[in-house]
Amino acid sequence: MRKSTLFCAAAAAAISSGWAMADPDDDELVINGEIEIVTEAPAPEHVENLDTIYSGWRFRTDETQALEMDDFDNPAMVLVDKAVDAYGMPDGTEAKSCASCHDDVETFTGLAATLPKVGEDGKLHTIEDLINTCRTERMGAEPWKWSGEPMQTMAALIVSQSRGLPVNVSFDGPARSFWEQGKEMYYTRYGQLELSCANCHEDSFGLMIRADHLSQGQTNDFPVYRLKQAKLISKHNRFKGCIRDTRAETFAEGSDEFRALELYVATRGNGLSIEGPGVRQ
Ligand code: HEC
Ligand code: HEC
Repeated sequence: MRKSTLFCAAAAAAISSGWAMADPDDDELVINGEIEIVTEAPAPEHVENLDTIYSGWRFRTDETQALEMDDFDNPAMVLVDKAVDAYGMPDGTEAKSCASCHDDVETFTGLAATLPKVGEDGKLHTIEDLINTCRTERMGAEPWKWSGEPMQTMAALIVSQSRGLPVNVSFDGPARSFWEQGKEMYYTRYGQLELSCANCHEDSFGLMIRADHLSQGQTNDFPVYRLKQAKLISKHNRFKGCIRDTRAETFAEGSDEFRALELYVATRGNGLSIEGPGVRQ
């Protein structure tokens, strides 16, 4: 039996009997002693079943929390340094680098707090989409793999420019139908365990499942360095893992379904701060 299968059986049992609740802790997150992170906020109006939203950071152990409080301790920041190099490195048939057109990466400040967003083509764009559009259409370079290291480190570099800014993802106008689709997915029960995202992250956050303290499944910390996987992971990689834990077939990273789910989940975090790249267990 795979470990995640065991874990899930435990999760299902724990959820049905409702034991071992533990609230998020009261710790405050200030990165490098200067970037203040809002880890708790009133739930946005459209999140009907929660009063307060919390960053997943508040559910982690003191040891894991500490890794995110200082860039020297955050294992993701070493990777971000690699992305700084890649940012200035020409690639593709046009022999251009990101820096050739975008100047300093600081010009992306604020962008991550609004993603994903609908583009002029009417499609929903994540950070990975925006980066790959530049690679394929503007640099004549190969697209990066969704969850590969070059993509997620570049995403982390761009996201880190928005640390401390409030998540403010729009779901009006052209984004609305994607948002509705994502919302429906969030409340759909998947797999043999018949568990929806909401069953775990809305109804049961705070629950201790063995050593795992269940959070609200927020995404303001992505791309996130997962200690268990020893790498930066994408939101879609996390969604995939969570759905697989319900013993369901899952959607692919980069699928339209996961884009829609990403949008919906992001709007559940409106009001928290961007803290990516975060660190989780
Ligand atoms: C040949 C010029 C060019 C190159 C090279 C280039 N970009 Fe772009 N990029 C653009 C243009 C033009 C846009 C669309 C207009 C805009 O938003 O700035 C854009 C948009 C973006 C956006 C979305 C910005 C937004 O506000 O929606 C991101 C993110 C981005 N580029 C990242 C990158 C990265 C990372 C690289 C290197 C891997 C790169 N770009 C290389 C020209 C370029
Ligand atoms: C069986 C319960 C369960 C289900 C169902 C589930 N998750 Fe999770 N999820 C977890 C656990 C356990 C973790 C790791 C601890 C934590 O951060 O909550 C996690 C972590 C996450 C995280 C990372 C949070 C962070 O702070 O980095 C996200 C995002 C997430 N889940 C989203 C989802 C979405 C979206 C769905 C529905 C497709 C889903 N989960 C379904 C149990 C579940």
